[in-house]
Formats: sequence, C-alpha cells, structure tokens
Amino acid sequence: MIRRPRRSCLYMPGTNARAHDKARELACDVVIFDLEDSVAPEAKAEARNRIVACLDAGGYGARELVVRINHPATVWGRDDLAAAARAGAQAVLLPKVTGAEDVRVAGRVLDDLGVAARLWAMMETARGVLDAPAIAESHPRLALFAMGLEDFAKELHADTAPPRMAMLYALERTVLVARAFGLGVLDGVYPAFDDDAGFAAACAQGAALGFDGKQLIHPRQIAAANAAFAPSAEAVAEAHRIIAAFEAARERGAGIAVLDGRMIEALHVDEARTLVAFAEDIAARG
Ligand code: COA
Ligand code: MG
Repeated sequence: MIRRPRRSCLYMPGTNARAHDKARELACDVVIFDLEDSVAPEAKAEARNRIVACLDAGGYGARELVVRINHPATVWGRDDLAAAARAGAQAVLLPKVTGAEDVRVAGRVLDDLGVAARLWAMMETARGVLDAPAIAESHPRLALFAMGLEDFAKELHADTAPPRMAMLYALERTVLVARAFGLGVLDGVYPAFDDDAGFAAACAQGAALGFDGKQLIHPRQIAAANAAFAPSAEAVAEAHRIIAAFEAARERGAGIAVLDGRMIEALHVDEARTLVAFAEDIAARG
C-alpha cells in the first residue's frame, strides 16, 4: 500500500490572506482552506473567492490542497463545493457527515462537474461514527476520514481532555473502518496551540492509534506533528535490517528468517519496505 504523507494538515480560515500566503512556505503536508466554522456567515462569499484565487495562483508545491466547505444543506454548501472543485482542490472536506447519503450527494455533484476532486469526510457526529462503514462505501471519491473532536464531544456531552478516554472508542472505530476500506484517517485538532508538551503527547497517542497525521490550527504545531507521524530513524534502520535478514535467508533457500531472536516472515518484510518507501518519500520533500 502506498502511504501518502499527511502528517500535518493545517487549517486556515478562508478569510486569512496572510495565512494563505504563508502556507506556500510552511512545512505542512496538507493545507486545509476553511469555509466552515472559522468563517463568519457574512464573510462566507468573500472567503470562497479568496480560496479560489489561491488555488488559481498556486505555488503550494507538493502540499495537498483541501477545502473544507459548509455542509451542502446550508445556503453556502453547494456553491462552496462547486467552486472548490472547479478551482482544482485535490479534495473537498465535508463537515458534519451523518450518513452515506451526505457523501453520495456531494459525489454526484462532482461527477456531474467532471472534476477530479476526492471527498474527505469529517467524523464529528455520533451518527457519522456509528455509520462509518456505510459512509466508507458511499461513493468511490471518498478517500479519507478526519476526526472532528470538538463537535463530537459537544454532541456526546463528553470531554476531550487528555488522554481522551471518552473519545477512544470513536477514534479506534474510525481508524479500524478507514483501514478496512483503504481510506486515509486524520486525528483531530489540539486547540491549545501554545501547549507544546500536551500537543506532543496528543500526537504520540494519535500515531500509536494508527492515524496518518493530525489536523492542525497553528504553524507552530507543524514540526512536532511531522516528527510524530513519520517513521523514526531507528524504525527505518530496523526496517533495513529486517529486509537484509530476510533476503539473506531467501538466498539460503529459507522462507523465514531469524533476527535478534525474532521470527521474520514475508509480511514483516512487506511492512518494512512500505516504511522505507514512506520515509524516502518524506525525505524527498526536504
Ligand atoms: N495558518 C497559517 N498561518 C497562520 C495560522 C494558520 N492556521 N495561524 C497563524 N498563522 C500565522 C499568522 O498569520 C502569523 O503570521 P505573521 O507573524 O507572519 O504575521 C503567525 O502565524 C503567528 O500567528 P499568531 O499571532 O500566533 O496567531 P493568532 O493569535 O493571530 O491566531 C488562531 C490564532 C488560532 C486564531 C489562528 O492560528 C487560526 O486562525 N487558526 C486556524 C483556525 C481554523 O482554521 N479553524 C478551523 C478548523 S478547527
Ligand atoms: Mg466541526
């Protein structure tokens, strides 16, 4: 499986031109231009125009460009969807997805427009998390789940405080369903952007749970997310040792190898090769 780097996915309000310019130099893997909750109702149209202008102007290099739209049932949602997709956003992030039909409706609009954009779904309602498998299969454009823990906690009457005990079932379920259907999956934001220690702990937990990366709200969160969601130098070195041990065993005609008292099978070698390729992809980004 090819893993696309999505370690750091930085939101910026659609109205913040300074942030849009800065993003061309920031080390984030993904830029998420927001039209939803960070933009006031009276500024929605202006924000949409600004984002379209950014997408037209380009200059974002290898960064994946995503637009979070307002829900298609709002007065802005349909226009957001068409504008983002026509302007060349690589993905459109759908907020507050409650079921497969939300994604299907958006997918049909994109099909009719004949554009290439994928769909990403925010998992931030109880119905959405429960119906994750149906959402995952709803439309071939659906490519990723993004946890929305602030809205989710509000709906659950639950707490997002570390170590996120009240969220664990939803986090694990979303990762499980994403992997079962070959989707990407992003952990939620950490709103206290000055709390470096808390953020590092949240990233470590997200990486351990299996997320591809973290949604971010501030540039100062990028470096820690990039480190937490990339293979460590030790892991890469270990992967090379696994590959070498297995190749040596194959040359001797054996189907399995032993390394440091552990059994190494073909599946471990596949995993090691994927990790090395992912690390090389990240290194190539500089
Ligand atoms: N993307 C890009 N650049 C950003 C940024 C972001 N999300 N947040 C801040 N910056 C830039 C600022 O423009 C500023 O640049 P400058 O010093 O070169 O002018 C620099 O980083 C420092 O910003 P700072 O003063 O620390 O932040 P702030 O207090 O002005 O803003 C927030 C704090 C939280 C309001 C802001 O970071 C933000 O809007 N984040 C995104 C919110 C969002 O999109 N939410 C929706 C998803 S949950
Ligand atoms: Mg939300």
